[in-house]
Amino acid sequence: MLRSHTCGELNLTNLGQKVEIAGWLIQKREMGPILFLVLSDRYGKTQVVVNDPALVETAGRFTLESVVSVKGTVIDRGENRTDKYPTGCIEVEAESVTLLNPSKPMPFDYRKDANDAIKLKYRYIDIRKSNILQNLVTRSKVSALIHEYFDSLDFVEVETPFLIKSSPGGARDFLVPSRLWPGSFYALPQSPQVFKQILMVAGMDKYYQVVKCFRDEALRADRQPEFTQIDFEMSFVEEDDVMNVTEGLLCKVFKETKNLDVKRPFRRMTFNEAMDKYGSDKPDLRFGMELRTLDAIFANSEFAAFKNAATDPKMVVKGVILEGHAAELSKNQIKNIEKDVQGDGAKALAWIKKENGGLDSPLMKFFNDAEKAQLAEMIPENSVMFVVADKTGVALTALGNLRKRLAAEYNLYDKNSYEFVWITNFPAFEVDEETGEWVAKHHAFTDFDFEAAKRGDDLGTINSRAYDIVINGYEAGGGSIRIHNTDKQKEVFKFLGISDEEAKENFGYLVEALEFGAPPHGGLAIGFDRLMMLLNNTDAIRDVIAFPKTTSATCMMTSAPAPVTETQLKELSIKVDKKEEN
Ligand code: AMO
Repeated sequence: MLRSHTCGELNLTNLGQKVEIAGWLIQKREMGPILFLVLSDRYGKTQVVVNDPALVETAGRFTLESVVSVKGTVIDRGENRTDKYPTGCIEVEAESVTLLNPSKPMPFDYRKDANDAIKLKYRYIDIRKSNILQNLVTRSKVSALIHEYFDSLDFVEVETPFLIKSSPGGARDFLVPSRLWPGSFYALPQSPQVFKQILMVAGMDKYYQVVKCFRDEALRADRQPEFTQIDFEMSFVEEDDVMNVTEGLLCKVFKETKNLDVKRPFRRMTFNEAMDKYGSDKPDLRFGMELRTLDAIFANSEFAAFKNAATDPKMVVKGVILEGHAAELSKNQIKNIEKDVQGDGAKALAWIKKENGGLDSPLMKFFNDAEKAQLAEMIPENSVMFVVADKTGVALTALGNLRKRLAAEYNLYDKNSYEFVWITNFPAFEVDEETGEWVAKHHAFTDFDFEAAKRGDDLGTINSRAYDIVINGYEAGGGSIRIHNTDKQKEVFKFLGISDEEAKENFGYLVEALEFGAPPHGGLAIGFDRLMMLLNNTDAIRDVIAFPKTTSATCMMTSAPAPVTETQLKELSIKVDKKEEN
């Protein structure tokens, strides 16, 4: 090794020892004839004192962030000791200083918040200088815990292929052209779903994998085109068994990384309850602010928009109360809140304040005494209720998002706390917003209330056997009990308007596998990156991934994606239809 100790290791027990340390030069300070250097590495930082005039001259020329090694003796800092960092009581008195590699001046000032594009281009510098390096260390430790946990429960880690067949449903696939089969393409897996189910048919019984997944979908702060799942599947199980395994893993991870004892079993809430009370199927339960249903109050309202929504079964009048902040809320702030709510699709936002025991609202003239009395009882002093009367889905989403924004803006929860909840009883099917057609809400292999579907119940009301684990408002994971019977699986394809030929073409191998003795089975996948976001208290998925993509799916460091040569295209029998650059 080019060092005897790391930069985070030396302390008073090493006094008098000859040592050699190496790291990045992060500080240089002259004090008269003496030069102080601070070397840093992954483990910490150590101060070096240079007294020898020749060494002072040499080291004085080193630029910051150069890679430097120092040989010397560990000495006591005496009255300059500090407890601000672990090596703060000692320093290394240099006997030699060596420049292992000089550094150019940094391309951005990492002490200030540089723009994302430059930080991503020089990702290695951002990793070195920010907290990302420590996030990656934690990620590696959690990965070890995950393997230890599943291994202890007799799960078998099986790698599944990355070059697979494209299939419809879910997000768009990333495609990989085949050279040997001109005109044919592999797809990168959106998840190992079908393979893990087939492993159950193969008798694996308990499978797991920490695995990359690829989805060509609209990106957000908590989404990447390639991300990692902690994926598992079990045979002969029901919902509670899968939930138990998930809870055990999360409790172990939170205990060992945050020393947090999470209470088990985790809370459970149906999809309908979550939507009704929190306007979201991933409610953040670190704070209350449950949505209020106001239909009963406004069923006979003189305000037509409220009355119509309160009496139309497809619409609703709902409110959310911001407690204790009415006095400080300006008209301008309310205008901005209204804009945000309209951005979420709601037509309008009404507000009703209670201050000094009296109500205030632009709609006061429409409210009769009975309505006023009920509102006064519902709204606490110095509080404001924001109200949306709209289509049920629109009102719930708009108010659910408003609830979250208000809680964050007014610091209404402890940012270091964690609230876990299972969301259950999801609808099996939903209407795709783009195509208007029925699609599976989780995926087409999820078991559901088959009898209800056969009876001809409205597809939107049929419950599936899917469950999501939600932590602090993030969908941290999701899974389901699967269909293990071929006839049932074929029926589902019918409900989803997938013809026999299409089903055979795309999922024939799975349907056939189910015919050869598929055991009842189910599983779940946790988003590893999202879990790491939660453990590191960050809202940005980039902070927990070494080399993330931008929201337009590019890598600023390597410039991927990029054109390839004509020769490569020719080998793949591909002609690119070059669109005019605009
Ligand atoms: P699902 O699609 O719900 O389920 O994905 C499981 C979990 O993966 C995470 N996740 C993502 N994380 C970052 N970026 C993305 N683009 C992204 N997409 C999903 C989420 C999500 O909860 N095969 C099923 C699981 C199963 O049924 O067993 C599946 O993939 O945290």
